Amino acid sequence: VPSRAEIIEQYKAVRYATEGICASLEVEDFVVQPHEDVSPPRWHLGHLAWFFENFVLKRFISGYEPVHPHYSFLFNSYYNLVGDRTVRATRGHHTRPTVHQVMQYRAEVDARITRLIESCDDTTLLHLSPILETGLHHEQQHQELLLADIKAILHQPPLFPAYVDGSRLQPGQGSRHEGWTRLEGGNIEIGHAGDGFAFDNESPRHTQLLRPFKLANDLISNAEYLAFTEDGGYRRPELWLSDGWDVAAARRWESPLYWHTRAGARFTHTLYGLRELMPEEPVCHVSYYEADAFARWAGKRLPTEFEWEHAAVSTGAMDHPGTLAEDWNYQPRRGRDLNARISRMIGEVWEWTSSAYAPYPGYRAPEGAIGEYNGKFMVNQMVLRGGSVATPAQHIRATYRNFWHPDKRWQFTGIRLAEDA
Ligand SMILES: [Fe+2]
Repeated sequence: VPSRAEIIEQYKAVRYATEGICASLEVEDFVVQPHEDVSPPRWHLGHLAWFFENFVLKRFISGYEPVHPHYSFLFNSYYNLVGDRTVRATRGHHTRPTVHQVMQYRAEVDARITRLIESCDDTTLLHLSPILETGLHHEQQHQELLLADIKAILHQPPLFPAYVDGSRLQPGQGSRHEGWTRLEGGNIEIGHAGDGFAFDNESPRHTQLLRPFKLANDLISNAEYLAFTEDGGYRRPELWLSDGWDVAAARRWESPLYWHTRAGARFTHTLYGLRELMPEEPVCHVSYYEADAFARWAGKRLPTEFEWEHAAVSTGAMDHPGTLAEDWNYQPRRGRDLNARISRMIGEVWEWTSSAYAPYPGYRAPEGAIGEYNGKFMVNQMVLRGGSVATPAQHIRATYRNFWHPDKRWQFTGIRLAEDA
C-alpha cells in the first residue's frame, strides 16, 4: 500500500506530464478547434481538473464548494448524470476562461487534492484511492489525445508549424521484420487478470475459441500503402465495406490523413512539421475502413482483438515495447526488434482490429456517473490494440481496449495484418 506522500507524488508526476506536453505551445494554440473531433488544449486542461474535482473532491468533501460555479458546465465531457454541458463541437468557440485562468483552476484543484489526501481519515483514503487512480489513467489517456489534437491544430498549410524541432527526431530504422508468426489458438483466456489497474471494459476475463492464425511480424509501411493507392485502392469498390466506400467518396479520400503531394513528391504532416514521406515508416492516420480495404487488397485480413491479445500475451510483447510517449519520438517506426517474435506490438501505432467494441460476457458498467466512462460507447465503434508513440508507458497493457468510430483517423492509427493458418 503506497504512503500518502507516495500517492501525492504519483498524482503530481502525472499532472505535470500533461502540462509538459503543452509547454511548447503558443497561447493561440490552446484555444482553436480545427474540427469537431479535436478538443482545444485549454479544454483538455480544464476537463482534467474537473474530473478530479467532480469525482474526488465533490464526493469526498462534505459541503464541497466548487472552484467556479460554471466550470462543470464548461468542462464536463459526456457525463449525463453529472449535468448539462457545453456542446462538444463548440469547445473552441469561446475565449474565456483564459488559458491562464484554466492553469489557475488546475493549480487550485491540485492544492485541494493534496490537502484531502494529507488530511482525510484512513477509511476515506481507502475509498478515494481507486477513483484517484482512475483519474490518473484518465489523465494519461488525455495526454495521448492532446498530442493527436495538437497535431491536428498545427496542421496549418502552408506553414506546417513544428511541435518539436525536427533535429530531435531519431529515425530508428531497423531491417524490416519479414514474415508471419503462427499461433495455434484454442480456448484462450482473454481480458484483465491480476491486481494491477485496468479499465472496466477489460473485464470479465473469459474464454474465447481461436482457430489457428498467423499475425504479421511487422506493421504495414507507407510504401506498402502507397502501392495500394497506386493500384487504384480508393477507386475500387470491391475492396471496400459499403459504409467505408460512402465515407471515402463523400470526404474525397485518396490517401491517409496528412499526406500531401507537391511537385510529384509526397510529404506528410508530422509533429516535426512537414516531412518527406518515409517509405519504410509505418502507415499512420488511416481509418478502420481504409485498414480493412487495404487488408482485402493484400489478400489478408485484420486480426480480431482476441487474436491480437493472445499473440501479445503469448509472445511477451509487453517486455519489448516499441516507441511510446516517454521516448519523445513522435514518428512511429518499423523494423525488427531482435528480442521480439513479433515486432512493435506495443507502441508505434494503434492497430485496428476487426472486432466491434462490445461488452465482454458478464460485463456490467459501474454504478453512477463513472459508469458512463466506457460502457455507453459499446456500439458502432471498433477496437484498436497496442498503443502508439503518444501513449504513456504506464497506460498500456496487452489487455487494453482502445476504441474509435470506423471513420476516425486523426489518432495515431495503423495496420498489422493477419491471416488464417
Ligand atoms: Fe475525459
